Amino acid sequence: MASKPVHDSAFEAEGLRSHYISSLGVADVGNRVSVCGWVSRVREHGEHLVFVDLRDRTGVVQVVAHSSVVVRSEFVIRVSGMVSKRPTGTENPSLGSGEIELVDTDIEVLSSSELVPFAIHDRLEVDEATRLKFRYLDLRREKMQHNLRMRAKINSAIRSSMERQGFTEIETPLLWTPTPEGAREFVVPSRLHPGASYVLPQSPQIAKQLLMVAGFDRYYQIARCLRDEDLRADRQFEFTQLDLEASFVSQREVMGFVSSAVMEAASVAGVAVTSPIGEITWKDSMDRYGVDKPDMRFGNELVDVTTIFSSTSVKALNSPCLKAIVAPNPSLLSRSKLDDLVDRAKRLGAKGLLWLKVVSADHGVQLESPVSKFLSDVESQSLVSATGAVAGDVILVVGDEWMKACQILGQIRLDLGKDQADSSEFRFVWVVDFPLFEGFDEDGQLISAHHPFTMPNEEDFSKLDSDPLSVRSQSYDLVLNGWELGSGSIRIHRSDIQSKVFSLLGIGSEEAKSRFGFLLEAFRFGAPPHGGFAFGIDRLVALLVGEDNIREVIAFPKTQSGSDLMTGAPKEIDQKLWDLLGLSVKPQKKDLS
Ligand code: AMO
Repeated sequence: MASKPVHDSAFEAEGLRSHYISSLGVADVGNRVSVCGWVSRVREHGEHLVFVDLRDRTGVVQVVAHSSVVVRSEFVIRVSGMVSKRPTGTENPSLGSGEIELVDTDIEVLSSSELVPFAIHDRLEVDEATRLKFRYLDLRREKMQHNLRMRAKINSAIRSSMERQGFTEIETPLLWTPTPEGAREFVVPSRLHPGASYVLPQSPQIAKQLLMVAGFDRYYQIARCLRDEDLRADRQFEFTQLDLEASFVSQREVMGFVSSAVMEAASVAGVAVTSPIGEITWKDSMDRYGVDKPDMRFGNELVDVTTIFSSTSVKALNSPCLKAIVAPNPSLLSRSKLDDLVDRAKRLGAKGLLWLKVVSADHGVQLESPVSKFLSDVESQSLVSATGAVAGDVILVVGDEWMKACQILGQIRLDLGKDQADSSEFRFVWVVDFPLFEGFDEDGQLISAHHPFTMPNEEDFSKLDSDPLSVRSQSYDLVLNGWELGSGSIRIHRSDIQSKVFSLLGIGSEEAKSRFGFLLEAFRFGAPPHGGFAFGIDRLVALLVGEDNIREVIAFPKTQSGSDLMTGAPKEIDQKLWDLLGLSVKPQKKDLS
């Protein structure tokens, strides 16, 4: 049966093409078709013929043309021709349409192209600055086409999952007011209210809570968010969240909504996820992996060895907490690598890092280390058995306060182990029972670990005054392969608890009124208990398509320094616009270095 033409409606049938390339096959042999796209490659074939590889969004087909046809790479052409089976032995199995070619062709040049700055195929390494300057060319590459199309499919899967679960998509404003998510905000000065500004939303956090007060019960949005923070592989100024909020729900129910959406997203990306997604408490995650976003694709977990050295004579081991790991890839740890590792640990804030090579683990443990001769047999033996090390392993030990020891060794574990993580494995995990407060700032003020509307764990209410750092919150993060995908919480909907938390955070009633007065006021008119979540779609898509930077799944991203190399943004703006906004800009000091 001949393949289906592009157009279903008679109206569209007047278009330039009859078929997309990938729809053509041997069933069309003998038919005349017309296809449109970009010239991928031109090859001379004998005296009178050229082969033109034509690419459209679906694939590539070989076009046989007369050598009088003058086309070059990236010309946009329309080809009318006859589908013909390629001579036996000349088929190209790497092309979907590799069994056929177009012969007896008419070629119409719809648009010519200058010499492109880089060839449009994935095999070529092009530096990122050039890719971003000519992003529209970069996006023509198969990998980028795949990434963005997969992103669209994932968005669509997320939408249908949310809708199936009874959620309504509601858009919230971009011109908004500060929200307490912790990042710096982008400010938009108002022309009509000189001196006053809007703020671009870090997330729809407050708006979605208001939608719960408004009775929508289950809200979601694929929401653009903006944060003026330093950019990294997993951070852009502009990013997209699946944002959701629901009323009368428990933490588990919210986790269930998110898990379903993520499973559907993973499934369209062809990734199998074990269901249900596992859980780990924040405390456990810090203890075993030294981070709140554990990469569980490899072991080498942290082990607490504090008690083993409680009466040690080694000064370096005299610490409130000692954490140890068996180093991943010990064979790579030459003496100079170990010295580098000690420096790395110091740069991370450690007083030092102790390494111990296991020479023998059986009959009488033997360790090689700067401190080995000061260790008792019992200490050496216990260290080896606590860590499970075997001969040839290297044990690394960091001593400090609990949190610092965990974080430093957790980072070393990642530095050494990330290469051994299987990139085809997807280890989702829920991290639960986060502390309500992260610690104290320089002024001795408690800092919120999530945002100030997060509900404390009811079992810990009594400790809010006496031991605030031990209070757990009803918040939860979703982590994939060491990346924080998203976070959420059950919110405070009672004004007495909210005032208590504000006062612990040093937010006085006047400040609370001026910053979130409208939310607190809304809560006075019947606020249902509610909770929600948001995950980063850029991060999810990047991981699912196997990229390690979210720029690879964003059509027009900013560079690490926040510039758009294609448009030149950010640019100075016209003085007239500043005047209209009633603003003036301080002249910048020129960098004379
Ligand atoms: P949070 O601030 O943890 O929570 O953000 C949720 C998720 O959004 C993604 N994300 C980013 N992605 C790319 N670039 C960035 N700059 C960036 N910042 C955040 C991450 C992150 O896990 N309102 C709360 C959620 C809630 O409580 O419901 C919030 O925004 O994947």
